[in-house]
Amino acid sequence: MSVKFNATYSESIVSASDINNIAPKAVDAMKTLMSATGEGNDFLGWINLPRDYDKEEFSRIKKSAEFIKNNADVLIVIGIGGSYLGARAVIEACKSANYNLLAKDTPQILFIGNSISPSSLNDIVSLCEGKDVCVNVISKSGTTTEPAIAFRVFRELINSKYSPEEAKKRIFCTTDANKGTLKELADKEGYETFVVPDDVGGRFSVLTAVGLLPIAVAGIDIDALMNGAFDAMNELCSENLDENPCLKYAAVRNCFYNKGKKLECFVSYEPDMAMFNEWLKQLFGESEGKDGKGLFPVSCVFSTDLHSLGQYIQESGGELMFETVVSFKNCLNDYVIEEQEGNIDGLNFLAGEKMSLVNDKARLGTLLAHTNGGVGNLIVEAEKKAEYEIGYLIYFFEKACAISGYILGVNPFNQPGVEKYKKNMFALLGKPGYESEKENLEKQLGL
Ligand code: PA5
Repeated sequence: MSVKFNATYSESIVSASDINNIAPKAVDAMKTLMSATGEGNDFLGWINLPRDYDKEEFSRIKKSAEFIKNNADVLIVIGIGGSYLGARAVIEACKSANYNLLAKDTPQILFIGNSISPSSLNDIVSLCEGKDVCVNVISKSGTTTEPAIAFRVFRELINSKYSPEEAKKRIFCTTDANKGTLKELADKEGYETFVVPDDVGGRFSVLTAVGLLPIAVAGIDIDALMNGAFDAMNELCSENLDENPCLKYAAVRNCFYNKGKKLECFVSYEPDMAMFNEWLKQLFGESEGKDGKGLFPVSCVFSTDLHSLGQYIQESGGELMFETVVSFKNCLNDYVIEEQEGNIDGLNFLAGEKMSLVNDKARLGTLLAHTNGGVGNLIVEAEKKAEYEIGYLIYFFEKACAISGYILGVNPFNQPGVEKYKKNMFALLGKPGYESEKENLEKQLGL
């Protein structure tokens, strides 16, 4: 198995008997998921996706990615939440958090429509000046405010920069197969379209066209990514917790929850994984945080955050949280520390050592310090930070999240709470149809 799970360092908090006690519930939760008998069972398309994905669309994605690579300096990716985080997470994990500064043979990839900040929008418009641009707008509904505003701007930018024939070729829409404003517009204008499947929710959609087109444009091997997910799909099936790291992880994190922990902190020692952490936060937060239940997902990049949040975690974190550390056994881009004359900084004892070794000792040192301080540590270890392993990890966490949600007793596939802020925002903006709410909300705000 490409991913290993280790809960032994948390045994003083979650014991072997705690895990044995929750095991039947975890197995039942996995059976509910795999037999499609639980709540939200119309959103299970991601389960067999690594095998059953649309092969014709997959080749079109590759073809469009080639077109974009050959014709654009910049790809603008417009989307929010599940229509954004996965692509960015995989690009940064497989390439670099500095992808745009390092990209030589592939376009820069700029993300927008993931906030309503005018200054962010203006910045991205400025970055397109004098450059050849393509746009991938990703929205299942086509009506989400953030991407819809950004798409207005970038459609206009493309239309004013290129002839109608050329403009049409530079806009790629990833949306519903049959309905919605974006689908209607794409059909009317003749834009290339890709599908957000009906049975795959936003936060589970990274291995559909939602994630795959931008990922392929970055020069990432999407076959290897899918192969990793495919192997995870086949390997993470056992009902024996010791043979199924995904099932065991789902069980153990629920043990932490049952012991009163409120936060799960996803930790990486690679800054390139910061956006993967963001993806994990949406996956778990939106899936489990409902009905007054659920661990609140937070994230850290160590050793960076050990110099800011380490104090809190070490001395006040024990009651509140545990950590899930995603680590990589081998570093593909290492650096050897050299001897320096004079040894002014006293670091010559490290001369000839790989920096990855220092990073790993920091990880082990932190593991002991935090567990001794009462902060449980779970370790999810992959071989290396590359396409296959990232695909495997995506599937590992998606399945663990779904099982975990069923153990917790929630529907892991809905997100009713996301609508509340939108309603208020539309009412305050005076959107037709929301008039009656406006006055009441303004009164509450003291406006
Ligand atoms: O996971 C989700 O469902 C959300 O994060 C959505 O992906 C997000 O709100 C964007 O929605 P849409 O794709 O309809 O624009």
